[in-house]
Amino acid sequence: MTQDELKTLVGQAALQYVPEGSIVGVGTGSTVDKFIDALGEALKANPQRVAGVVSSSVRSTQRLQALGVPVLEAEAVTGLGVYIDGADEIDHAGNMVKGGGAALTREKIVAELAERFVCIADDSKLVEALGRFPLPVEVIPMAAAQVIRAFAALGGQAQVRAGVTTDNGNVIVDVKGLQITQPAQFEADVNQWPGVVTVGVFARNKADVCLLGTAQGVKTLS
Ligand code: 5RP
Repeated sequence: MTQDELKTLVGQAALQYVPEGSIVGVGTGSTVDKFIDALGEALKANPQRVAGVVSSSVRSTQRLQALGVPVLEAEAVTGLGVYIDGADEIDHAGNMVKGGGAALTREKIVAELAERFVCIADDSKLVEALGRFPLPVEVIPMAAAQVIRAFAALGGQAQVRAGVTTDNGNVIVDVKGLQITQPAQFEADVNQWPGVVTVGVFARNKADVCLLGTAQGVKTLS
């Protein structure tokens, strides 16, 4: 199976985790696009399948709206049953690195509203320890140079992602060469740095379930 087919598989499988008539949190990325497509199909068959969604990016909102899925503002809801999102890497404990699509801040906000985080990913994303994928960090532009120096002091090689402005008007700094052995502590520490809006480690609010697309089908890690 191709990587794209594995993404389709988990995107469709995620629908089982969406309670009938609920409001669901929707992440961002090519794997989530498959979930959005599956949701659009399900809504065609049953217009009450969900009451609406809260989206984590302009990109996902546009795709959802094109399929006729009602998109609600995060401020309009007090909680969500489930949040569905992809990952750039995920370890066996459900800790993730996210932000490859530059949507990490809104993803953390929407994920925080949800009781359950369901990660959907093809099996290339599963790692023994976080650090293989360059770590995305959303940073207020005037702090970018000092954040890059702070990562250099930790042994990382960081640079501003060219040509990218986040939905919040900030830049993304991508950091290579880090070994993130204590994800929750690392997330808490880096989030304290002045100018850091969001670090792309999702450990405090990690995945409760991971639907992993494999050649043998969907494997559920929880
Ligand atoms: C976007 C993200 C995505 O979930 C992550 O980049 C995975 O994307 P894809 O499904 O395209 O591999 O964190 O900010």
